[in-house]
Amino acid sequence: MDLSSVRRAYKFYAPIYDLVFGRIVEEGRRRAVSVFPQKPGDRILEIGVGNGRALRYYDPHVEVTGIDVSPEMLNVARGRFLNQRFPQVKALLQMDAQALEFPDDSFDGAVAMYVASVVPDPEAMIREMFRVCRPGSPIVVVNHFASRNGVARRVERGFAPFSRRLGFRPDFRLDDFVRLVGCEPRKITRVNVGGYWKLLEFTGWEKPAAPGDNGGGAHAPGNNGASAAFNNGNGRTPPPGFESNGR
Ligand SMILES: C[S@@+](CC[C@H](N)C(=O)[O-])C[C@H]1O[C@@H](n2cnc3c(N)ncnc32)[C@H](O)[C@@H]1O
Repeated sequence: MDLSSVRRAYKFYAPIYDLVFGRIVEEGRRRAVSVFPQKPGDRILEIGVGNGRALRYYDPHVEVTGIDVSPEMLNVARGRFLNQRFPQVKALLQMDAQALEFPDDSFDGAVAMYVASVVPDPEAMIREMFRVCRPGSPIVVVNHFASRNGVARRVERGFAPFSRRLGFRPDFRLDDFVRLVGCEPRKITRVNVGGYWKLLEFTGWEKPAAPGDNGGGAHAPGNNGASAAFNNGNGRTPPPGFESNGR
């Protein structure tokens, strides 16, 4: 998978997305959003916001920023936003999840729904999610992870060579993902049809005291620190409205 194949796949999916990936995984969207405390003014980042299906689940008093690399998916999200007038939506921006243009600690939580097995470099995505969030704030990932055995496992393996065409990796493993994140999720819940998808909640995590103290890792308290690097500062210019770290 690379960014151009992601864009190509989601240009194809945009007009039919709700039919194919709509209701079937809706429970996961609703439950992912419900993890956030959603206090008035809370700033939540939705990674890979797609056509904006989940926007309706946020409290009207929070500030949601959605980013996506697919202009066609974002166009549908913007139409939805204009038609349904969601007051909670602060911005819908075309941006790469692997190189976010926000300063450190810009958000009170972040969520990626059905994106981890689509994004070309999931480690870069998760590192960026932790970087732009306040330490300890909820980071939520919903995704399908490879089945361990049985017919499903064989079917997923069979589809794996077609990832670029499909627009996602059907054989993405949970243990590989957790290793990339560098800390165990506080909670894992099975969601959607037959619990085939998983909702991971990372909360109570810490940022390192100083860059380079243990390889620059952010980690959950008690974690052994074997973590992906969560750099402080990426040297990029933030989009308008995100110049300061806020609170
Ligand atoms: C399966 S869709 C999920 C959309 C939405 N989250 C939902 O619940 O329906 C995956 C989305 O991730 C986006 N995406 C993939 N790689 C990305 C990246 N590097 N940066 C931002 N968005 C990305 C795709 O464009 C697509 O809209």
